[in-house]
Amino acid sequence: SSSYPLSGPTHQHFSYSLCLAVEMLRSPAAALLRRLAPRLTGCSGGAGSSTRQSLPPYISSSSSFLARFSSTPTSPPPPSSVGARDDEAEDDKLQGSSSDSGARLSISVDRAGLYSPPEHSHEPSSDSDLVKHLKSIIKFRSGPISIAEYMEEVLTNPQSGYYMNRDVFGESGDFITSPEVSQMFGELIGVWAMCLWEQMGKPEKVNLIELGPGRGTLLADLLRGSAKFVNFTKALNINLVECSPTLQKVQYNTLKCEDESVGDEKRTVSKLCGAPVYWHASLVQVPSGFPTIIVAHEFFDALPIHQFQKGSRGWCEKMVDLAGDSSFRFVLSPQPTASLIFLSKRCQWASAEELEKVEQIEVCPKAMEITEQIADRISSDGGGALIIDYGKNGIVSDSLQAIRKHKFVHILDDPGSADLSAYVDFAAIKHSAMEASGLHCIMNSYCLFVLFMAWQAFLTRLVSVVIFADDISVHGPMTQSQLLGSLGINFRVEALMQNCDEKQAESLRTGYWRLVGDGEAPFWEGPDDQTPIGMGSRYLAMAIVNKKQGSPVPF
Ligand SMILES: C[S@@+](CC[C@H](N)C(=O)[O-])C[C@H]1O[C@@H](n2cnc3c(N)ncnc32)[C@H](O)[C@@H]1O
Repeated sequence: SSSYPLSGPTHQHFSYSLCLAVEMLRSPAAALLRRLAPRLTGCSGGAGSSTRQSLPPYISSSSSFLARFSSTPTSPPPPSSVGARDDEAEDDKLQGSSSDSGARLSISVDRAGLYSPPEHSHEPSSDSDLVKHLKSIIKFRSGPISIAEYMEEVLTNPQSGYYMNRDVFGESGDFITSPEVSQMFGELIGVWAMCLWEQMGKPEKVNLIELGPGRGTLLADLLRGSAKFVNFTKALNINLVECSPTLQKVQYNTLKCEDESVGDEKRTVSKLCGAPVYWHASLVQVPSGFPTIIVAHEFFDALPIHQFQKGSRGWCEKMVDLAGDSSFRFVLSPQPTASLIFLSKRCQWASAEELEKVEQIEVCPKAMEITEQIADRISSDGGGALIIDYGKNGIVSDSLQAIRKHKFVHILDDPGSADLSAYVDFAAIKHSAMEASGLHCIMNSYCLFVLFMAWQAFLTRLVSVVIFADDISVHGPMTQSQLLGSLGINFRVEALMQNCDEKQAESLRTGYWRLVGDGEAPFWEGPDDQTPIGMGSRYLAMAIVNKKQGSPVPF
């Protein structure tokens, strides 16, 4: 552990802190900082960091929140590893029928889309319920299903979907996410949320919504970290959008929830902060009318995607079909599919040069739809959303992957036993949000239109377009390393290191690397297959906010 990059000369730390202090005084959040200053307990000193040069050398208003956190580390993160990507994907092209140009009239039948059942067998099937279900859909349709439908069934089928009946996270699960890596992640997202709440004018009621909370770890760390900011925690209505009943129960426990009776009414309260907690199957079910803060970490990557492939017949959708031996296989759709409409929408947002370079395109209509819902809500209720995920700021070509027990496996292998996810197309999210904002402003102007007399209407409409146009703004994406660096992860890790044993220190180092590092950790001395891989630049963060709030920290 002596090679750990966080231990360095103290003078480095001193000049770094000085630099930060100057930056803080210059920053637009300085007024806010000065007001908060008397409440600070002070940033703890500690070893300098040779890695911090790679992070933005400033801290914004977030420092005032950070400084008041408890400096005791909670549980150490579990180690995990991921293997190399298995890029093999079947890609069978279906051929159309040929026609006879001779004198005789001949009629040929395109059998491409027809289902040819495998030989009848009396062998007992070892297929899982989900596999039987998927096969029956394909047989019933007499043809293949889209990858999006396959993905949706595999992940969220109510009976046997991957997420529905088990806890899939951590060392004993299939993969590990940033909140599970280190408590610092949730704490810093809490700093972001509190900064936004301040920018919103510290409303007395706020809907804090998390999309796809997993085990609830991010939120628990967020609430623990913000416990001293009583006005913030008192304002919270916590809303969790979670499709899995099993994970809802895990979240209930992680948030230390208890059921209470208030008069005739029953409600669930998190004992971490006293805020009421509600669960919903989708974002549209969350009651609106309050200013809103939305957090979506590794939620969009679990949404079903369609894949399209360029070929001699133009763009064809890649589908999942049954082979002769009744195993799953990929095929190309013999005829145009309804989802081509989403491809065409996505292509309108891309430049000709971007389109020329790609042979495959992934499109996620569900991500577009949920982004529109987020934008609508933020337009009407105020507030903002933070989306963090692995992805790209442009067209995603071929990223769908399956992970089981921390190793990549084939996408069609034993569906339901491995996580499926795809890179998030942040450019599509930005365009969807901006389009929804435009629609919102047209609807606002229409409402005004019907309220006024005809001769006033034209003027009103013009004015309302000016007032409501672009009522939301989209910021980023920036890398996770930039986000966490700007929110003060270096200060946080140093504060925690002051007060921990050697085992916890090792966990903090590893966790720090995983959150903001890039590639394999150079200081690692443990087993090769457990080398921590940095998520610092693979993961991106984007914020969608109501313009009334100004630019969100630290975008
Ligand atoms: C990859 S996990 C991320 C968990 C958590 N945010 C984290 O970072 O540890 C995806 C989460 O989204 C939930 N989820 C996936 N698809 C969903 C959907 N369509 N509606 C609601 N929740 C969904 C899963 O059950 C799970 O909690």
